[in-house]
Amino acid sequence: MENRLQTIVNPLLGWYKTHRRELPWRVDKDPYHVWVSEIMLQQTRVEAVIKYYSRFIETLPDVESLSEVPEDRLLKLWEGLGYYSRARNLKKAAEKIVRDLGGVFPDTSASLRKLPGVGAYTAGAIASICFQEKVTAVDGNVLRVVARVTGSRENVLLPEVKKQTEAGLLEVLPDNAGDFNEAMMELGETVCLPGDAARCVECPLQGECLAHRDGLTAELPVRVKQMKRRQEQRTVFLLTAEDGRTAVEKRPDKGLLAGMYQLPNVEGFLSEEEIRSAAEAWGLQVLEIVFIKDAKHVFTHLDWLMKGYHVKVAHPAGDFLWATPEELQQQYALPTALKPFAPFPTAKKKRG
Ligand code: ADE
Repeated sequence: MENRLQTIVNPLLGWYKTHRRELPWRVDKDPYHVWVSEIMLQQTRVEAVIKYYSRFIETLPDVESLSEVPEDRLLKLWEGLGYYSRARNLKKAAEKIVRDLGGVFPDTSASLRKLPGVGAYTAGAIASICFQEKVTAVDGNVLRVVARVTGSRENVLLPEVKKQTEAGLLEVLPDNAGDFNEAMMELGETVCLPGDAARCVECPLQGECLAHRDGLTAELPVRVKQMKRRQEQRTVFLLTAEDGRTAVEKRPDKGLLAGMYQLPNVEGFLSEEEIRSAAEAWGLQVLEIVFIKDAKHVFTHLDWLMKGYHVKVAHPAGDFLWATPEELQQQYALPTALKPFAPFPTAKKKRG
């Protein structure tokens, strides 16, 4: 398949040659400098970072000095940047480099990723800028540029969309991957700005950009926050009587899993004593309780975290339907959520 991103490589690199900003961490390509700047830039704008960066490097000029700095001194240097775990991770990583790597900075994205606080983006940035490795460095700016150029309406907050973006860029990455990566970030920070702040008239990629062509620049990229699903703990009862029948019940006609048959279950993780009491309250004579397993089922707005127990009882009783194994297989459609506890093999379903 043709990769539209191929068309942006030359115009982008040409633009970067003349428009790249002189930033203090660009003077040399020292990995320590690039690393500190990339960590600072993760949650803070370039203009704000410059001052912090210069003071940080003057005070702690190398990995050794960072590894030895007392924590309160470090946090003072970081004061105002926020997200202090970033600073603590910097020190931890410096300690690791000094202690385990003989003070030598890791020089591949894979080895960089083993440092505390260094994820795919930071590792890719350092490896491509300082060590010319052909790897991508995809941050929010790059996701925006790519979504617009390709006219993609996919949700850039999804990990798989980030992966697709990385794969698409990797295919077209030139030998000077560091320049390409920095040029993408720079374009996202200074020209391809979010929403209607985009300055398309200044953009070297205007001619290749599908969002621009279709008037979608302000709408892209799509960023849909996933709703936080409620987590519900449930105890599931596989109740079987000595005659071989199993208790099922019908769910209400409205709401979650409306009208389906289910194994009895209650909210919360019950202890074995509580399970016994519950079963007795349902009019059952409990013979044995055996834990089956833990299982999880993901609904749209809700997760069920389940613990299933096989509760052997003497006789069928209570407000349940007592189904023979054949009836269970043929008559009662158990929801996928409960199949981990089903006492019979079930047909594979595409989705739950
Ligand atoms: N934003 C984060 N890192 C950057 C870099 N290396 N160049 C330009 N902008 C950036």
